[in-house]
Amino acid sequence: MSKGKELLIGAIKDGIVIDHIPSKKVFLIVEILKLKNYSQRITVATNMPSSSLVKKGIIKIEDKILQENELNNISLIAPDATINIIEDYEVVEKTKLERLDEVEELVKCDNPKCISNHENIETKFIRVEEDLNENNLEEKTKYKCFYCEKIILEDEIQIQ
Ligand code: CTP
Ligand code: ZN
Repeated sequence: MSKGKELLIGAIKDGIVIDHIPSKKVFLIVEILKLKNYSQRITVATNMPSSSLVKKGIIKIEDKILQENELNNISLIAPDATINIIEDYEVVEKTKLERLDEVEELVKCDNPKCISNHENIETKFIRVEEDLNENNLEEKTKYKCFYCEKIILEDEIQIQ
């Protein structure tokens, strides 16, 4: 292969490719998908060149099928990621994730007084409808705690 034309990371035969992940979210997704003990080949790349994001991350997992709850968890952390299903080296399905209206269990409420931090109950957050600000730009996505109404910004979500 001539200089400068090397593949950055190899293609996979069967499995899934999670693409267009913000670089700083890659290892959190590795964690929530519990990939540490996965026995097939996994490729994790961060700070890769990208046209749409400044730098992107990619996770390639051989022989993996994502369950709905796993897709939901990814969409919470990286709502603009793309999920590609690969069969025999071909992309057979490409899904753009969507933001959830409601999030249960995964997110921690950062209000120390919130009942969800004291009682044995699952946390629950409701997405706040995005408004346009005075510059007609969409504001950052926010979620509201169902119990204490504390608002958290999508970027500041803490996973429990
Ligand atoms: N990919 C892979 N193995 C394959 C086929 C594709 O790892 N056998 C990866 C590609 O490297 C890419 C992603 O899956 O990161 C999606 O592939 P493709 O749709 O061919 O790329 P793009 O057109 O660049 O995707 P997008 O438009 O979503 O950016
Ligand atoms: Zn709360």
